[in-house]
Amino acid sequence: MDPQEVLSLCKRRGFLWPAYDIYGGMGGLYDYGPLGAVLKSNIENHWRRLYVLGEGFHEIQCPIIAPEPVFKASGHLDAFSDMYVECTSCGETYRADHLAAGLHDNPAALNEEQLGKLLRDNNVRCEACKGELTPPRRFNLMFKTSVGAGKGKAGYLRPETAQGMFVNFSQVYRYGREKLPVGAVQLGRSFRNEISPRQGLLRLRELSMMEAELFVHPEDKSWPKFKDVKATKLSLVPNSGPPVDMTLQDAVAQHVIANETLAYFMWLTQRFAVDIGIDPKRLRFRQHEKTEMAHYAADCWDLEAEIGYGWIEMVGVADRGCYDVQAHLTHSGADLTAFEKFDEPREVEQEVVRASFGNLGPLFKGKAKQVAEALAGLNPASVKGSDSVTVEVSGEKLVVPSSCYDVVLKKEKVSGRKLVPHVIEPSYGVDRLLYAVLDHAYSKKDDYISLRLNPLVAPIKAGVFPLMPRDGLDDIALGIHDSLSRSGMMSYYDDSGSIGRRYARMDEVGTPCCVTVDYDTKTDGTVTIRDRDSAQQLRLRTELVPKAVQALVAGAKFESLSKLE
Ligand code: GLY
Repeated sequence: MDPQEVLSLCKRRGFLWPAYDIYGGMGGLYDYGPLGAVLKSNIENHWRRLYVLGEGFHEIQCPIIAPEPVFKASGHLDAFSDMYVECTSCGETYRADHLAAGLHDNPAALNEEQLGKLLRDNNVRCEACKGELTPPRRFNLMFKTSVGAGKGKAGYLRPETAQGMFVNFSQVYRYGREKLPVGAVQLGRSFRNEISPRQGLLRLRELSMMEAELFVHPEDKSWPKFKDVKATKLSLVPNSGPPVDMTLQDAVAQHVIANETLAYFMWLTQRFAVDIGIDPKRLRFRQHEKTEMAHYAADCWDLEAEIGYGWIEMVGVADRGCYDVQAHLTHSGADLTAFEKFDEPREVEQEVVRASFGNLGPLFKGKAKQVAEALAGLNPASVKGSDSVTVEVSGEKLVVPSSCYDVVLKKEKVSGRKLVPHVIEPSYGVDRLLYAVLDHAYSKKDDYISLRLNPLVAPIKAGVFPLMPRDGLDDIALGIHDSLSRSGMMSYYDDSGSIGRRYARMDEVGTPCCVTVDYDTKTDGTVTIRDRDSAQQLRLRTELVPKAVQALVAGAKFESLSKLE
């Protein structure tokens, strides 16, 4: 669907407004109006239902601002960047890979030199003034800020919600009774200083994400619920071959998808997208090229939807391996490991941190024994290669130089082992999904616009109209409106204009049904309920209206409402 048409409806009917419009607006920032805000909450709440209630993930909420070391460790400070080119005449900036769209199958997979050459060879110039463009340069996409007065401390607005979950691995693990797999989810805003956001909701500088981090045993690639979904076919675009529709079972067996866990969460992602109303025929999973992968990813499949802008990424399902937890473990020194208990104790040779008393004794004197004990408790992986470590002894932080310890191999009988979990991450862009829902729901016939939203996510669940705003019909209609509100469903009372106009107003904002109170209601206690998509009508006892609307929201077919009692 033409994005201009969708965005115009969204603006007119209170779904979306360009933010700060009275001051000329700012690229990449949008407001959700009253209907957009409810649509967004409905999408988010369905996601919670699947992940928190359905899969047992633990929802947490972390701060949006994080101190610099978090993003040094995560790699975002060094690697979270895009390439831009600047017009040498008018100063306009462009994302370099976007300018190369149409010149290459996947410009995002090119490096600076390759992209620069491609643009030069094709004589790509400034879209505004035709001026010459600079070679591509890297630009870090994080918003930097300063925390506290004076010089303050460097901080960044998070570019993903994920890091809050990685740094809290130990807390989540403990909360989950120290078992793997364990999952955390977080819904919230993230911030990316996009170079030239020009595609409505698709590229926002402040965006909403729903992210799940599943911490798994590094060697366990099986997933118990895989057997229930393995016969499902998905449309796949692997990086190693042509597009193919394949069952998940075949995809895992033929190593197209790396493992059952990744495959299961791809299935769940597809199910979520279809549940909220995205057309399954316009969905596919595209595997990232090796050169396109984010710095932390070992593998990644994007769920893409075909919308008015083309095939666009909605969700990334990534295998992040142990990258993030290991990085935070190394940088913070915290023990971010899980413990695997063996069935029987085993004799193993393992690395331990051992104090070198020859140097430790003279330096720490009376405290040397306690320092040695603290050293023994450190994770050898976080100590290796360091110049010094900091340990806490009786509440005092002591810096211990590397001359005072070694990492050595020691034979021991052990009951288990520490391991750094691997992470499977389904990461959902809420704004993009919401836009795809609107794009796929938008229908126009002879200038009549109907938004065919799935009742599950539709902001208004029912329109309620008295045929005439008098003779007590209005009081009955207001009573129905109230009963819907009390049942937790948003309805819209409207008593002005012709019934046809009132239906049209509701169809245009995606309301799945309308209830009309007429003169028969007063005598036989029934109302008319009308289906948005077929315009079919049924008569229903007044007191059954909340149950009927609830049934539609839960997925019932309109015709089945006649059987309600
Ligand atoms: N956490 C995934 C992303 O930042 O895109």
